[in-house]
Amino acid sequence: MIYLDHAATSWPKPPEVIRAMTDFLERAGGNPGRSGHRLSIDAGRAVYETRELIARLLGAPDPLRVVLTANVTHALNIALLGLLDPATDRVVTTSMEHNSVMRPLRALQERGLELAVVPCHADGQLDLEAMATALRPGARLVVASHASNVTGTLLPIREIAALAHGAGALLLVDAAQTAGVLPIDAQEMGIDLLAFTGHKGLLGPQGTGGLVIAPHLEPSLIRPVLMGGTGSRSEEERQPETLPDRLECGTGNGPGIAGLGAGVRHLLAHGVDAVRAHEQALAQRLIDGLRGIPGVTLYGPMDAALRTATISLRIAGHSVSEVGWRLDESYDILCRVGLHCAPAAHRTLGTFPEGTVRLAAGLSNTFADIDAAIAAVREIAAS
Ligand SMILES: Cc1ncc(COP(=O)(O)O)c(C=O)c1O
Repeated sequence: MIYLDHAATSWPKPPEVIRAMTDFLERAGGNPGRSGHRLSIDAGRAVYETRELIARLLGAPDPLRVVLTANVTHALNIALLGLLDPATDRVVTTSMEHNSVMRPLRALQERGLELAVVPCHADGQLDLEAMATALRPGARLVVASHASNVTGTLLPIREIAALAHGAGALLLVDAAQTAGVLPIDAQEMGIDLLAFTGHKGLLGPQGTGGLVIAPHLEPSLIRPVLMGGTGSRSEEERQPETLPDRLECGTGNGPGIAGLGAGVRHLLAHGVDAVRAHEQALAQRLIDGLRGIPGVTLYGPMDAALRTATISLRIAGHSVSEVGWRLDESYDILCRVGLHCAPAAHRTLGTFPEGTVRLAAGLSNTFADIDAAIAAVREIAAS
């Protein structure tokens, strides 16, 4: 079997991830930060270690500003619903965003939020001039994905940060497709709020993710969307002011967080630069192999340096669902077809409403996998 659906979730997970999860359940299964006994302390230590590892990987100076969530969608909702006042705020975003950004923003727009969506080029690249123009009336927040989950196109985060800050806005980045895949230094890149998911490039299990909050932001800036028990300040019936407890309540996904820590440790040992080099080489080989096939249209930049290893295509005369089905049934290649929860991105590419066939390579893939996918697409296109 050839797994080319890493943009949806990475697979297989490193054995250490599975081991860390079973270890947590078997040996550290107390409720972290709640009880004072050794199982609770061990669980709390595992959770804190994951915070530290994530902080190290993503350039966050303070592990206590890594708020652990169920996924990036949860993290984005915490940031958007907690920060914004729809009655007074203006937000600028791009036309390549996932519904995890667009749906909360559209819901806030219905409550009065002013929203500007900057159109991207047909390959998903951002027009910085258009972003600068959209920011001229001012804004409270800019929201941008680091890479599209449809075309893999990278957005220029440092330049967006400079524009946002010049206009007095904060920058929230959706790093669902890049955390663990590209080197990220949140502080150096000027990212105020960085939302990530644990089960893709970070190699952790599903049900994990988080929000990194820059040191200069007051915790009070973000109103908690959820409130409840934290194990801290139990004498008070108000939500604690301090991070991460202000934004993290209820018992979390302890085994998942332990697994996420193991995934991040694996990446730190392997080196994200090495991951990027491997995936960029896979992407370029896939693009070069698919490019010349008659009837195949590729989306996104043709230079792998400008994108992740997520490649969208269509084959003339074949619906995307037929292609996905044949890749699975006849070639044992697993991919994803359709809109990938990003209708705005498909409108930008001109592939709405049918969507695309998405081949998303990842750390576990080899050149042989890529060559098999190219050969399969060639056969389907010729049939
Ligand atoms: C760019 C982007 N944002 C958000 C999400 C949502 O991720 P999750 O389901 O882990 O919250 C995804 C995953 O598909 C994504 O690719």
